[in-house]
Amino acid sequence: MSDGQIAHPLETDRPTPFDPPLELRRRPPLSRLAYPDGHLGWVATGYSVTRAILADPRFSTRRELLHQPVGRDRAIEEPTPAEPGIFPHMDPPEHTRFRRLLSHHFGPRRVAELMPAIRRYTAEALDGMAGADSPIDLVASFAMPIPALVICELLGVRAEDRQRIQAATSVMNDLDSRPDQVFEAVMSITGTVRGALAGPSGDGLLAHAAATGELDEEELTNLGMVLLATGHLPTSSMLALGAFVLLTDPGQRARLAADPEPAVEELLRYLSILQFDVRRTALVDVEIDGHVIAAGETVVLALPVANRDPARFPDPDTLDVTRSATGHLAFGHGVHQCLGQHLARAELRVALTALFERFPDLRLAVPAAEVPTRDRMAVYGVDRLPVALPERGA
Ligand code: HEM
Repeated sequence: MSDGQIAHPLETDRPTPFDPPLELRRRPPLSRLAYPDGHLGWVATGYSVTRAILADPRFSTRRELLHQPVGRDRAIEEPTPAEPGIFPHMDPPEHTRFRRLLSHHFGPRRVAELMPAIRRYTAEALDGMAGADSPIDLVASFAMPIPALVICELLGVRAEDRQRIQAATSVMNDLDSRPDQVFEAVMSITGTVRGALAGPSGDGLLAHAAATGELDEEELTNLGMVLLATGHLPTSSMLALGAFVLLTDPGQRARLAADPEPAVEELLRYLSILQFDVRRTALVDVEIDGHVIAAGETVVLALPVANRDPARFPDPDTLDVTRSATGHLAFGHGVHQCLGQHLARAELRVALTALFERFPDLRLAVPAAEVPTRDRMAVYGVDRLPVALPERGA
Protein backbone atom coordinates (compact mmCIF):
# COMPACT_ATOMS: atom_id res chain seq x y z
CA MET A 1 0.00 0.00 0.00
CA SER A 2 1.14 3.56 -0.59
CA ASP A 3 2.86 5.69 2.05
CA GLY A 4 0.93 7.50 4.73
CA GLN A 5 -2.23 5.44 4.37
CA ILE A 6 -3.76 3.54 7.22
CA ALA A 7 -3.85 -0.22 6.78
CA HIS A 8 -7.41 -1.33 6.22
CA PRO A 9 -8.76 -4.80 7.03
CA LEU A 10 -9.50 -5.36 3.37
CA GLU A 11 -5.85 -4.89 2.55
CA THR A 12 -4.05 -7.12 5.02
CA ASP A 13 -1.65 -9.88 4.09
CA ARG A 14 -2.49 -12.70 1.77
CA PRO A 15 -0.89 -16.12 2.39
CA THR A 16 -0.20 -16.38 -1.36
CA PRO A 17 -0.82 -13.93 -4.23
CA PHE A 18 -3.89 -16.02 -5.08
CA ASP A 19 -5.59 -15.80 -1.68
CA PRO A 20 -7.94 -13.15 -0.32
CA PRO A 21 -6.77 -10.92 2.58
CA LEU A 22 -6.29 -12.97 5.74
CA GLU A 23 -8.20 -10.64 8.03
CA LEU A 24 -11.36 -11.18 6.03
CA ARG A 25 -11.02 -14.96 6.22
CA ARG A 26 -11.14 -14.79 10.00
CA ARG A 27 -14.41 -12.87 10.10
CA PRO A 28 -17.90 -14.31 10.59
CA PRO A 29 -20.18 -14.42 7.50
CA LEU A 30 -21.48 -10.87 8.11
CA SER A 31 -19.64 -8.35 10.26
CA ARG A 32 -19.17 -4.65 10.91
CA LEU A 33 -16.58 -2.77 8.87
CA ALA A 34 -15.33 0.77 9.45
CA TYR A 35 -15.15 2.62 6.13
CA PRO A 36 -12.49 5.31 5.52
CA ASP A 37 -15.15 8.05 5.31
CA GLY A 38 -16.28 7.29 8.89
CA HIS A 39 -19.26 5.19 7.88
CA LEU A 40 -19.81 2.11 10.00
CA GLY A 41 -20.93 -0.39 7.41
CA TRP A 42 -20.69 -4.11 6.87
CA VAL A 43 -18.73 -6.76 5.03
CA ALA A 44 -20.22 -10.06 3.91
CA THR A 45 -17.78 -12.94 3.65
CA GLY A 46 -20.03 -16.03 3.91
CA TYR A 47 -21.32 -17.62 0.71
CA SER A 48 -25.03 -17.82 1.64
CA VAL A 49 -25.29 -14.35 3.12
CA THR A 50 -23.45 -12.80 0.15
CA ARG A 51 -25.68 -14.58 -2.34
CA ALA A 52 -28.80 -13.60 -0.39
CA ILE A 53 -27.85 -9.90 -0.35
CA LEU A 54 -27.05 -9.92 -4.09
CA ALA A 55 -30.48 -11.40 -4.81
CA ASP A 56 -32.39 -9.03 -2.50
CA PRO A 57 -34.17 -6.05 -4.13
CA ARG A 58 -34.05 -4.21 -0.80
CA PHE A 59 -30.38 -3.51 -1.56
CA SER A 60 -29.36 -0.87 -4.09
CA THR A 61 -26.34 -0.20 -6.32
CA ARG A 62 -27.21 3.48 -6.67
CA ARG A 63 -23.94 5.30 -6.50
CA GLU A 64 -25.19 8.21 -4.45
CA LEU A 65 -26.08 5.75 -1.67
CA LEU A 66 -22.84 3.75 -1.63
CA HIS A 67 -19.93 4.28 0.73
CA GLN A 68 -16.45 3.39 -0.53
CA PRO A 69 -14.81 0.71 1.62
CA VAL A 70 -11.20 1.46 0.80
CA GLY A 71 -8.94 4.13 -0.66
CA ARG A 72 -9.92 6.84 -3.11
CA ASP A 73 -10.39 10.49 -2.49
CA ARG A 74 -13.85 11.30 -1.17
CA ALA A 75 -14.26 13.90 -3.89
CA ILE A 76 -14.77 11.10 -6.42
CA GLU A 77 -17.48 9.68 -4.26
CA GLU A 78 -19.65 12.78 -4.36
CA PRO A 79 -23.21 11.63 -3.84
CA THR A 80 -24.48 12.17 -7.36
CA PRO A 81 -27.03 9.92 -9.06
CA ALA A 82 -25.90 7.67 -11.93
CA GLU A 83 -25.19 9.51 -15.16
CA PRO A 84 -27.52 8.56 -18.01
CA GLY A 85 -26.54 5.16 -19.40
CA ILE A 86 -24.40 4.05 -16.44
CA PHE A 87 -26.77 1.19 -15.72
CA PRO A 88 -24.63 -0.77 -13.21
CA HIS A 89 -25.38 2.10 -10.82
CA MET A 90 -29.12 1.91 -11.36
CA ASP A 91 -31.77 -0.24 -9.73
CA PRO A 92 -34.72 -1.82 -11.53
CA PRO A 93 -36.79 -0.74 -13.39
CA GLU A 94 -34.29 1.75 -14.98
CA HIS A 95 -31.60 -0.91 -14.88
CA THR A 96 -33.86 -3.50 -16.55
CA ARG A 97 -34.35 -1.29 -19.57
CA PHE A 98 -30.61 -1.41 -20.35
CA ARG A 99 -30.16 -5.10 -19.62
CA ARG A 100 -33.04 -5.90 -22.01
CA LEU A 101 -31.48 -3.82 -24.72
CA LEU A 102 -28.06 -5.42 -24.27
CA SER A 103 -28.63 -9.06 -23.36
CA HIS A 104 -28.63 -10.51 -26.90
CA HIS A 105 -25.31 -8.77 -27.67
CA PHE A 106 -23.70 -10.84 -24.92
CA GLY A 107 -25.66 -14.08 -25.25
CA PRO A 108 -24.24 -17.48 -26.29
CA ARG A 109 -25.11 -16.95 -29.97
CA ARG A 110 -23.22 -13.65 -30.23
CA VAL A 111 -20.28 -15.17 -28.34
CA ALA A 112 -20.23 -18.09 -30.81
CA GLU A 113 -20.03 -15.54 -33.65
CA LEU A 114 -17.09 -13.87 -31.95
CA MET A 115 -15.12 -17.12 -31.53
CA PRO A 116 -13.09 -16.71 -34.77
CA ALA A 117 -12.07 -13.20 -33.64
CA ILE A 118 -11.12 -14.47 -30.17
CA ARG A 119 -8.99 -17.22 -31.76
CA ARG A 120 -7.41 -14.80 -34.22
CA TYR A 121 -6.45 -12.22 -31.59
CA THR A 122 -5.10 -15.01 -29.38
CA ALA A 123 -2.99 -16.42 -32.21
CA GLU A 124 -1.64 -12.94 -33.01
CA ALA A 125 -0.66 -12.38 -29.39
CA LEU A 126 1.09 -15.75 -29.25
CA ASP A 127 2.89 -15.08 -32.55
CA GLY A 128 4.15 -11.83 -31.05
CA MET A 129 5.45 -13.68 -28.01
CA ALA A 130 7.15 -16.35 -30.13
CA GLY A 131 9.18 -13.65 -31.87
CA ALA A 132 10.15 -11.76 -28.70
CA ASP A 133 13.17 -12.14 -26.45
CA SER A 134 12.70 -13.46 -22.90
CA PRO A 135 11.69 -12.26 -20.41
CA ILE A 136 8.32 -11.38 -21.89
CA ASP A 137 5.65 -9.53 -19.93
CA LEU A 138 2.57 -11.72 -20.26
CA VAL A 139 0.29 -8.89 -19.14
CA ALA A 140 1.32 -6.53 -21.95
CA SER A 141 1.76 -9.16 -24.65
CA PHE A 142 -1.15 -11.49 -23.95
CA ALA A 143 -3.56 -10.65 -21.11
CA MET A 144 -4.25 -7.01 -22.04
CA PRO A 145 -4.55 -7.03 -25.85
CA ILE A 146 -6.85 -10.03 -26.36
CA PRO A 147 -9.87 -8.83 -24.31
CA ALA A 148 -9.34 -5.22 -25.39
CA LEU A 149 -9.44 -6.16 -29.08
CA VAL A 150 -12.46 -8.41 -28.58
CA ILE A 151 -14.53 -5.75 -26.80
CA CYS A 152 -13.54 -3.16 -29.43
CA GLU A 153 -14.76 -5.55 -32.11
CA LEU A 154 -18.02 -6.24 -30.28
CA LEU A 155 -18.75 -2.56 -29.77
CA GLY A 156 -17.55 -1.38 -33.17
CA VAL A 157 -14.68 0.73 -31.78
CA ARG A 158 -11.50 1.08 -33.82
CA ALA A 159 -8.82 -1.40 -32.74
CA GLU A 160 -6.24 1.45 -32.95
CA ASP A 161 -7.86 2.98 -29.88
CA ARG A 162 -7.30 0.01 -27.67
CA GLN A 163 -4.10 1.22 -26.03
CA ARG A 164 -5.77 4.46 -24.99
CA ILE A 165 -8.65 2.44 -23.58
CA GLN A 166 -6.31 0.12 -21.68
CA ALA A 167 -4.49 3.01 -20.05
CA ALA A 168 -7.70 4.82 -19.15
CA THR A 169 -9.41 1.79 -17.60
CA SER A 170 -6.33 1.09 -15.47
CA VAL A 171 -6.53 4.61 -14.04
CA MET A 172 -10.25 4.20 -13.37
CA ASN A 173 -9.64 0.93 -11.54
CA ASP A 174 -6.85 2.26 -9.35
CA LEU A 175 -8.29 3.28 -5.98
CA ASP A 176 -5.37 5.69 -5.52
CA SER A 177 -6.04 7.66 -8.71
CA ARG A 178 -6.72 11.35 -8.13
CA PRO A 179 -10.08 12.81 -9.19
CA ASP A 180 -8.45 14.76 -12.04
CA GLN A 181 -6.80 11.59 -13.33
CA VAL A 182 -10.09 9.71 -13.25
CA PHE A 183 -11.82 12.59 -15.02
CA GLU A 184 -9.18 12.62 -17.73
CA ALA A 185 -9.48 8.84 -18.17
CA VAL A 186 -13.25 9.08 -18.49
CA MET A 187 -12.86 11.88 -21.07
CA SER A 188 -10.41 9.79 -23.05
CA ILE A 189 -12.79 6.84 -23.27
CA THR A 190 -15.75 9.08 -23.97
CA GLY A 191 -13.84 10.60 -26.89
CA THR A 192 -13.20 7.13 -28.31
CA VAL A 193 -16.84 6.16 -28.03
CA ARG A 194 -18.01 9.43 -29.61
CA GLY A 195 -15.64 8.68 -32.48
CA ALA A 196 -17.21 5.24 -32.91
CA LEU A 197 -20.71 6.70 -32.89
CA ALA A 198 -19.88 9.45 -35.34
CA GLY A 199 -17.89 7.35 -37.78
CA PRO A 200 -18.92 4.43 -39.94
CA SER A 201 -18.98 2.03 -37.00
CA GLY A 202 -20.51 -0.74 -39.09
CA ASP A 203 -22.44 -3.38 -37.28
CA GLY A 204 -20.99 -3.13 -33.79
CA LEU A 205 -23.14 -3.01 -30.67
CA LEU A 206 -23.01 0.77 -30.42
CA ALA A 207 -24.28 1.26 -33.97
CA HIS A 208 -27.08 -1.23 -33.32
CA ALA A 209 -28.03 0.44 -30.04
CA ALA A 210 -28.07 3.82 -31.79
CA ALA A 211 -30.28 2.42 -34.56
CA THR A 212 -32.95 1.31 -32.08
CA GLY A 213 -33.60 4.98 -31.35
CA GLU A 214 -34.20 4.05 -27.71
CA LEU A 215 -31.18 5.84 -26.29
CA ASP A 216 -30.10 9.44 -26.59
CA GLU A 217 -26.54 10.44 -27.42
CA GLU A 218 -25.43 10.89 -23.84
CA GLU A 219 -26.83 7.50 -22.83
CA LEU A 220 -25.11 5.86 -25.80
CA THR A 221 -21.77 7.48 -25.06
CA ASN A 222 -21.86 6.52 -21.40
CA LEU A 223 -23.02 3.02 -22.25
CA GLY A 224 -20.04 2.61 -24.56
CA MET A 225 -17.76 3.81 -21.79
CA VAL A 226 -19.18 1.33 -19.29
CA LEU A 227 -18.86 -1.57 -21.68
CA LEU A 228 -15.31 -0.68 -22.71
CA ALA A 229 -14.26 -0.34 -19.08
CA THR A 230 -16.01 -3.45 -17.74
CA GLY A 231 -15.36 -5.48 -20.86
CA HIS A 232 -11.65 -5.74 -20.79
CA LEU A 233 -9.92 -5.18 -17.45
CA PRO A 234 -11.56 -8.03 -15.48
CA THR A 235 -10.90 -10.50 -18.29
CA SER A 236 -7.31 -9.25 -18.66
CA SER A 237 -6.80 -9.66 -14.93
CA MET A 238 -8.22 -13.16 -14.95
CA LEU A 239 -6.06 -14.14 -17.92
CA ALA A 240 -2.89 -12.90 -16.23
CA LEU A 241 -3.65 -14.25 -12.76
CA GLY A 242 -4.93 -17.51 -14.25
CA ALA A 243 -1.73 -17.94 -16.26
CA PHE A 244 0.30 -17.07 -13.15
CA VAL A 245 -1.30 -19.69 -10.93
CA LEU A 246 -1.10 -22.31 -13.67
CA LEU A 247 2.59 -21.56 -14.17
CA THR A 248 3.12 -22.42 -10.51
CA ASP A 249 1.12 -25.65 -10.78
CA PRO A 250 1.95 -27.92 -13.73
CA GLY A 251 -0.50 -30.62 -12.60
CA GLN A 252 -3.48 -28.27 -12.82
CA ARG A 253 -2.17 -26.94 -16.13
CA ALA A 254 -2.29 -30.41 -17.67
CA ARG A 255 -5.85 -30.88 -16.42
CA LEU A 256 -6.93 -27.56 -17.94
CA ALA A 257 -5.79 -28.81 -21.33
CA ALA A 258 -7.78 -32.02 -20.88
CA ASP A 259 -11.04 -30.34 -19.87
CA PRO A 260 -11.07 -26.52 -20.12
CA GLU A 261 -14.69 -25.79 -19.19
CA PRO A 262 -14.73 -26.88 -15.52
CA ALA A 263 -11.16 -25.65 -15.22
CA VAL A 264 -12.14 -22.10 -16.15
CA GLU A 265 -15.03 -22.17 -13.65
CA GLU A 266 -12.66 -23.25 -10.89
CA LEU A 267 -10.12 -20.57 -11.81
CA LEU A 268 -12.89 -17.98 -11.62
CA ARG A 269 -13.94 -19.25 -8.18
CA TYR A 270 -10.43 -19.58 -6.81
CA LEU A 271 -9.17 -16.22 -8.04
CA SER A 272 -12.41 -14.15 -7.79
CA ILE A 273 -10.78 -10.93 -8.91
CA LEU A 274 -13.53 -8.38 -8.16
CA GLN A 275 -12.33 -7.75 -4.66
CA PHE A 276 -13.53 -4.47 -3.10
CA ASP A 277 -16.01 -2.83 -5.37
CA VAL A 278 -19.07 -5.05 -5.24
CA ARG A 279 -21.23 -3.08 -2.83
CA ARG A 280 -24.86 -2.59 -1.93
CA THR A 281 -26.70 -0.16 0.33
CA ALA A 282 -29.84 -1.17 2.22
CA LEU A 283 -32.92 0.83 1.16
CA VAL A 284 -34.84 -0.27 4.28
CA ASP A 285 -33.81 -2.09 7.46
CA VAL A 286 -33.02 -5.67 6.49
CA GLU A 287 -32.69 -8.53 8.94
CA ILE A 288 -30.21 -11.06 7.74
CA ASP A 289 -28.10 -13.75 9.37
CA GLY A 290 -29.08 -12.57 12.87
CA HIS A 291 -28.16 -8.91 12.19
CA VAL A 292 -30.09 -5.85 11.11
CA ILE A 293 -28.52 -3.90 8.28
CA ALA A 294 -30.10 -0.50 8.74
CA ALA A 295 -31.42 1.59 5.85
CA GLY A 296 -28.53 3.62 4.43
CA GLU A 297 -25.77 1.20 5.50
CA THR A 298 -23.40 -0.15 2.86
CA VAL A 299 -22.24 -3.76 2.64
CA VAL A 300 -19.12 -4.88 0.78
CA LEU A 301 -19.69 -8.27 -0.78
CA ALA A 302 -16.30 -9.91 -0.44
CA LEU A 303 -16.67 -12.30 -3.37
CA PRO A 304 -13.14 -13.76 -3.09
CA VAL A 305 -13.87 -14.83 0.50
CA ALA A 306 -17.43 -16.02 -0.16
CA ASN A 307 -16.04 -18.26 -2.89
CA ARG A 308 -13.67 -19.82 -0.34
CA ASP A 309 -16.48 -20.64 2.11
CA PRO A 310 -15.90 -24.25 3.24
CA ALA A 311 -19.64 -24.63 3.82
CA ARG A 312 -20.16 -24.29 0.06
CA PHE A 313 -16.89 -25.49 -1.49
CA PRO A 314 -15.11 -28.33 0.30
CA ASP A 315 -11.37 -27.77 0.74
CA PRO A 316 -11.82 -24.26 -0.69
CA ASP A 317 -8.17 -23.17 -0.62
CA THR A 318 -7.17 -25.94 -2.98
CA LEU A 319 -7.23 -25.13 -6.66
CA ASP A 320 -8.73 -28.23 -8.22
CA VAL A 321 -9.67 -27.63 -11.84
CA THR A 322 -11.54 -30.92 -11.99
CA ARG A 323 -14.05 -29.98 -9.29
CA SER A 324 -17.50 -28.60 -10.06
CA ALA A 325 -17.25 -24.94 -9.08
CA THR A 326 -20.63 -24.00 -10.55
CA GLY A 327 -22.62 -21.68 -8.33
CA HIS A 328 -19.53 -19.57 -7.58
CA LEU A 329 -20.08 -15.84 -7.20
CA ALA A 330 -17.14 -14.56 -9.25
CA PHE A 331 -19.62 -13.02 -11.71
CA GLY A 332 -21.89 -11.84 -8.91
CA HIS A 333 -25.51 -12.91 -8.64
CA GLY A 334 -29.00 -11.46 -9.10
CA VAL A 335 -30.03 -8.71 -11.50
CA HIS A 336 -26.54 -7.21 -11.78
CA GLN A 337 -24.83 -10.52 -12.48
CA CYS A 338 -22.08 -9.99 -15.02
CA LEU A 339 -23.43 -9.09 -18.44
CA GLY A 340 -20.26 -10.33 -20.16
CA GLN A 341 -19.88 -13.69 -18.45
CA HIS A 342 -20.35 -15.88 -21.55
CA LEU A 343 -17.84 -13.77 -23.41
CA ALA A 344 -15.36 -13.83 -20.52
CA ARG A 345 -15.59 -17.61 -20.21
CA ALA A 346 -14.99 -18.04 -23.95
CA GLU A 347 -11.96 -15.75 -23.88
CA LEU A 348 -10.45 -17.51 -20.87
CA ARG A 349 -11.01 -20.95 -22.36
CA VAL A 350 -9.55 -20.12 -25.74
CA ALA A 351 -6.63 -17.98 -24.61
CA LEU A 352 -5.41 -20.01 -21.63
CA THR A 353 -5.54 -23.35 -23.44
CA ALA A 354 -3.85 -21.87 -26.53
CA LEU A 355 -1.09 -20.30 -24.40
CA PHE A 356 0.01 -23.59 -22.87
CA GLU A 357 -0.56 -25.57 -26.05
CA ARG A 358 1.70 -23.23 -27.99
CA PHE A 359 4.29 -22.85 -25.22
CA PRO A 360 4.25 -26.01 -23.10
CA ASP A 361 7.60 -25.04 -21.56
CA LEU A 362 6.62 -21.51 -20.59
CA ARG A 363 7.90 -20.61 -17.14
CA LEU A 364 8.01 -17.69 -14.72
CA ALA A 365 11.10 -15.55 -15.25
CA VAL A 366 11.16 -14.34 -11.61
CA PRO A 367 10.30 -16.02 -8.30
CA ALA A 368 6.51 -16.00 -7.73
CA ALA A 369 6.89 -13.73 -4.67
CA GLU A 370 8.45 -11.02 -6.87
CA VAL A 371 5.49 -10.70 -9.22
CA PRO A 372 3.87 -7.31 -8.42
CA THR A 373 0.23 -7.69 -7.36
CA ARG A 374 -2.45 -4.98 -7.50
CA ASP A 375 -3.62 -5.04 -3.92
CA ARG A 376 -5.30 -1.66 -4.02
CA MET A 377 -7.25 -2.10 -7.21
CA ALA A 378 -10.97 -2.75 -7.36
CA VAL A 379 -10.07 -5.52 -9.79
CA TYR A 380 -7.29 -7.63 -8.31
CA GLY A 381 -4.49 -8.91 -10.51
CA VAL A 382 -0.85 -8.50 -11.41
CA ASP A 383 0.79 -5.47 -12.99
CA ARG A 384 3.40 -7.47 -14.83
CA LEU A 385 4.06 -11.16 -15.29
CA PRO A 386 7.59 -11.80 -16.55
CA VAL A 387 7.79 -15.17 -18.30
CA ALA A 388 10.49 -16.96 -20.26
CA LEU A 389 10.37 -19.24 -23.24
CA PRO A 390 13.03 -21.90 -23.76
CA GLU A 391 16.03 -20.55 -25.73
CA ARG A 392 15.30 -20.64 -29.43
CA GLY A 393 17.18 -23.47 -31.13
CA ALA A 394 17.92 -25.06 -27.73
C1 HEM B 1 -20.92 -6.98 -13.66
C2 HEM B 1 -17.16 -9.94 -12.82
C3 HEM B 1 -15.99 -9.78 -17.54
C4 HEM B 1 -19.46 -6.50 -18.25
C5 HEM B 1 -20.03 -7.83 -13.04
C6 HEM B 1 -20.12 -8.25 -11.66
C7 HEM B 1 -19.07 -9.06 -11.43
C8 HEM B 1 -18.31 -9.19 -12.66
C9 HEM B 1 -18.71 -9.73 -10.10
C10 HEM B 1 -21.24 -7.88 -10.68
C11 HEM B 1 -20.98 -6.56 -9.99
C12 HEM B 1 -22.07 -6.24 -8.99
O1 HEM B 1 -22.96 -7.03 -8.73
O2 HEM B 1 -22.01 -5.14 -8.41
C13 HEM B 1 -16.51 -10.12 -14.04
C14 HEM B 1 -15.36 -10.99 -14.20
C15 HEM B 1 -15.04 -10.95 -15.53
C16 HEM B 1 -15.99 -10.06 -16.19
C17 HEM B 1 -14.69 -11.80 -13.10
C18 HEM B 1 -13.93 -11.64 -16.29
C19 HEM B 1 -13.41 -12.80 -15.97
C20 HEM B 1 -16.87 -8.93 -18.17
C21 HEM B 1 -16.93 -8.69 -19.59
C22 HEM B 1 -17.88 -7.76 -19.78
C23 HEM B 1 -18.46 -7.41 -18.49
C24 HEM B 1 -16.06 -9.36 -20.66
C25 HEM B 1 -18.27 -7.21 -21.14
C26 HEM B 1 -18.72 -6.01 -21.38
C27 HEM B 1 -20.10 -6.32 -17.05
C28 HEM B 1 -21.18 -5.35 -16.86
C29 HEM B 1 -21.59 -5.49 -15.52
C30 HEM B 1 -20.77 -6.54 -14.95
C31 HEM B 1 -21.71 -4.38 -17.88
C32 HEM B 1 -22.68 -4.70 -14.81
C33 HEM B 1 -23.97 -5.46 -14.93
C34 HEM B 1 -25.14 -4.80 -14.25
O3 HEM B 1 -24.98 -3.98 -13.35
O4 HEM B 1 -26.26 -5.14 -14.66
N1 HEM B 1 -18.93 -8.43 -13.64
N2 HEM B 1 -16.85 -9.57 -15.25
N3 HEM B 1 -17.81 -8.16 -17.54
N4 HEM B 1 -19.90 -7.02 -15.89
FE1 HEM B 1 -18.44 -8.37 -15.60
